[in-house]
Amino acid sequence: MKVSVIGAGTMGNGIAQVFAQKGTDVILVDTFPDAIKKALETMKSSLEKLQRKGAIREDPNIVLSRIKTETSLSALSESDVYIEAVPEKPEIKKTAIEAISSVARPDSIVASNTSSISINLLSSYCKFPQNFVGMHFFNPVPVMKLVEIVKSNRTSEETLNKVMSLVTLLDKQYVVSSDYPGFISNRILMPLLNEAMLALEQGISTKEDIDKTMKLGMNHPMGPLELADFIGLDVTRDIMEVLYREFGDHRYKPPIILRNLVNSGKLGRKSGEGFYKY
Ligand code: CAA
Repeated sequence: MKVSVIGAGTMGNGIAQVFAQKGTDVILVDTFPDAIKKALETMKSSLEKLQRKGAIREDPNIVLSRIKTETSLSALSESDVYIEAVPEKPEIKKTAIEAISSVARPDSIVASNTSSISINLLSSYCKFPQNFVGMHFFNPVPVMKLVEIVKSNRTSEETLNKVMSLVTLLDKQYVVSSDYPGFISNRILMPLLNEAMLALEQGISTKEDIDKTMKLGMNHPMGPLELADFIGLDVTRDIMEVLYREFGDHRYKPPIILRNLVNSGKLGRKSGEGFYKY
């Protein structure tokens, strides 16, 4: 099997890695050479971590040798599966999906890792919309057990079955969602993050105590403010914007405290500062 992953950011490199860990040949495409360089470093360090704790038996370099990289969409070629993980902007996704469509076979699966954009909309950019599906992975991809499968009105049963088998091959579990804003995961997660930010904004408590409440009181691995920093505050705001626009419900309205952080370049862990300093 050959899998092409478009976008080598946090999600794209994690997706490429987990397929390579299962013996699959992967082409990882990103138009920014720096993104490819960073992706290779991230995957190496993740694989070494997994090897150290005995979660993988193969040498990390052997796993990495299955991943070929390219820096142009025109380098895309025939694959069994394409997964796009480019930034959450419809126009960027459109360019990627049209490039995939120009080389995909009529039986290739075309998946999007979008966390909030309509799968029905994205499928309209694909030459074979019956083969188009959402495959929403979670960060860090090598660790998180879930893939949210999202079907559009035109996703075929055959495509759905193939994607379920792919998730199982990756030793992950799936849930199936219809194409509704935020699917299952972000529809539920975003109001939680939103409420935590409003609690901080309204001076109810400190950021540390808000996070501690959810970590120790509810057994969440990370508090909501820490988690928003981990996801990326720009990504969190963009997802909330989509949900707020689509549902028109204030539960999803990005709080001012979040907007101010993003506008001042504090994007969470990746920029060195968000609600916390790293
Ligand atoms: N690659 C490989 N292994 C990794 C890893 C990576 N990138 N990151 C962490 N690990 C491993 C560690 O080696 C460690 O393994 P052991 O327990 O076997 O030693 C384990 O994962 C835990 O890691 P750490 O001890 O370093 O740190 P931690 O206990 O704080 O766990 C975490 C880190 C797994 C990220 C945990 O904090 C967690 O689960 N947080 C919540 C993550 C989450 O909610 N993700 C979803 C975000 S939402 C999203 O992605 C989608 C969206 O649309 C917004």
